[in-house]
Order: sequence, then C-alpha cells, then structure tokens
Amino acid sequence: MKNAVSNTMALWFFLVFSLHCAVTRCHALSDNILVVGATGTTGLRAIQGLLDVGYKPHQLFILTRNASRTHMKQLKKLGFCLIQADLQRPSSLVAMHQDVTSIVYNSAAAAKDHGVKRIQQKHDVESILMHHSKYPRHVTCLRANLFMEELWKRYTRPQILKGEYPLPVNRWRKLYLTSVRDMGRLAGTVVARESAFKQDARSKSTRIVNVAGDLLSGPQIARAFGKAQGFPCRHVNNRELTKFAKENFPELYEQIHFIQTSPEKTNIRTLKKEFPGLITSFKEFLDETKWGNVDLEFDDLSKPESLDVPDNM
Ligand SMILES: NC(=O)c1ccc[n+]([C@@H]2O[C@H](COP(=O)([O-])OP(=O)(O)OC[C@H]3O[C@@H](n4cnc5c(N)ncnc54)[C@H](OP(=O)(O)O)[C@@H]3O)[C@@H](O)[C@H]2O)c1
Repeated sequence: MKNAVSNTMALWFFLVFSLHCAVTRCHALSDNILVVGATGTTGLRAIQGLLDVGYKPHQLFILTRNASRTHMKQLKKLGFCLIQADLQRPSSLVAMHQDVTSIVYNSAAAAKDHGVKRIQQKHDVESILMHHSKYPRHVTCLRANLFMEELWKRYTRPQILKGEYPLPVNRWRKLYLTSVRDMGRLAGTVVARESAFKQDARSKSTRIVNVAGDLLSGPQIARAFGKAQGFPCRHVNNRELTKFAKENFPELYEQIHFIQTSPEKTNIRTLKKEFPGLITSFKEFLDETKWGNVDLEFDDLSKPESLDVPDNM
C-alpha cells in the first residue's frame, strides 16, 4: 500500500483527505488523495468535487472493504485507484500512516451541547485528529449542514414530486444546506493550498470550517422544488413525525429536535469569498442534478456513470 499511495495523501469523508502541492482548478495537482468512506450512498459526489478542482482519477485512491463489487470495478475502469482495507482492522492501514501529511475530515456543523449522538461521534473524532500529536500536521474539519443530496433519496423525492415537501420545522425556521460535491471541492482546495504553501513540517495546524451553500426555510425550499420541477410544491410541517419519533425513535427525535432548534451559524458569504466559484446554492444544485427530470432517481445521482470525468484524464 505504501508504494501505491506515494508520498502524500488525504482521506475524506467520515475520515479524511490529505495531500501535497497544487493550486486551483487550472493547475496540475501533483499529489495523491486517499478517500475514505466515499463508496456509500453520497460519497461519489465528493469524488466529483475533487475532479471539479482538478484532481485526476489516478490521483484518487478510493478505500473500500470490498473492491470486487460492480460499482468498484466501474470506478477502476474510469481510472480511479482502489485500495481494499477495513478501518476496523487498523493493521491494514499502518503501512501508509507515515505518508499522510494532511487530513480533511467530513464532520457536522453544530453548537456545543447539541445533544445528537451521531454528531458527538464526529466531534469526538475531530478532537482526536486535531489534538493528538500522532496524527498529521494539517487537520481541517469541514462541518457540513444538511446535505442537499439527501433530498434526492427515496424517503423524500417521490413525495416532493407529488407536490409536498414534508419537513418537521415551522415555516420560519431556516436551515443551512450543503452540497456533498462542495465538500469534495473544498477538501481538494484545502489540501492543495496547504501543499502549495509548504507549511512548516514541524508545527501542527488545525481548523474547523462550517460549510453551506444556502440558508432557506421550508416554504423557500418547497418553492425552489416547484420551480425546478415545473409544478408547485408546498412545505408541510409534519408534526406527527416529530411526535412519533419522540415516542419510538429517540435517535431520530434527537436529529429532528436539532434541526428545529440548533443555534449554529455558517457564514456563507465568507465561505464564498474564501472559495470563489466552489459553493453551490440550492437552485444551482437542483439545476445541476436535473431535479426536474422525473425519470431520474437517487441512484442516477450516486452511481459511477454519473461522474463527470474529463476526457483528457
Ligand atoms: N449532513 C448530512 O445531512 C448527512 C446526511 C447523511 C449522511 N451524513 C453522513 O455522511 C456519512 C456517510 O453517509 P452515507 O449515507 O454515504 O453512508 P454509507 O452509504 O453507509 O457509506 C459508508 C461508507 O463508509 C465506508 N466504510 C464503512 N465501514 C468501513 C470500514 N470498517 N472500513 C472502511 N470503510 C468503511 C463504506 O465503504 P465500503 O462499503 O465500500 O467498504 C462506505 O464508503 C456519515 O458520516 C453520515 O453521518 C450526513
């Protein structure tokens, strides 16, 4: 594995990224990135983000526990490098540990005392990566808000296409929305910048960045769906779901309560200044993913064939 991954790398996702040398989308990027956790339901969108900012498939090492699945073979055909490993067995990663120079971790935006176990787990990982001297010197935690891609899933899209967007929040509550593709774009850019500035090898730098491309209320999200699909959609605050979750699914209720009350803020204007052209609004997301094409399903968005891999790669 050591040879395969060369002298630098990064893991993404619910683990990491890393890298070396590079600048913006027009420049040739010279480092490799190890992408962890991107073979799941939304991860390929992050890979697309890395391609957007100039990485080539052969620079992207995609970690999976099972490289023999059809999707994996398709990724290999497209030129990506597959690494078969299991994070439950750390020994499979030991060989490459010393080569990792930076990590970008896909985390979750939330204020202290948010009360959501899933988010706490991510913040605990952040803390280990940022404060443990054993981990690479550059650690960036990109804290996502609600993934726009989630709205494509089977539990949401069909009902929206019938004209109703069920979201258990009142009509004034605004939610931050994040494109997974932007998470990949930002991760690639962060790693490239660190590499380009050749930061001091001995000092540790850590940073937390909240990521979102839009801040919208339920009715505003529903209106955007209506415009994209060419027929109206209205927001429905399904209080029944809140009640049902409270009584039966404590973890789901934690998440609902969180989106109803979280005071966490993301500064979209500052983010756009720092990452010009890389932050996607909700309308742009709906256009880009062809929301209005009623024949498309979530799988169309998340399969290897959906990747836009430039010809000259
Ligand atoms: N912000 C939001 O709105 C939002 C919404 C949904 C999800 N999320 C977050 O997004 C992340 C993933 O979501 P998802 O729906 O894409 O998940 P998923 O479909 O369950 O994918 C899990 C990924 O993790 C990898 N993985 C799991 N166990 C592993 C192990 N032991 N060793 C190595 N790789 C392992 C899987 O790789 P292989 O199967 O190929 O081995 C796969 O790539 C989660 O952290 C979740 O909390 C955020």
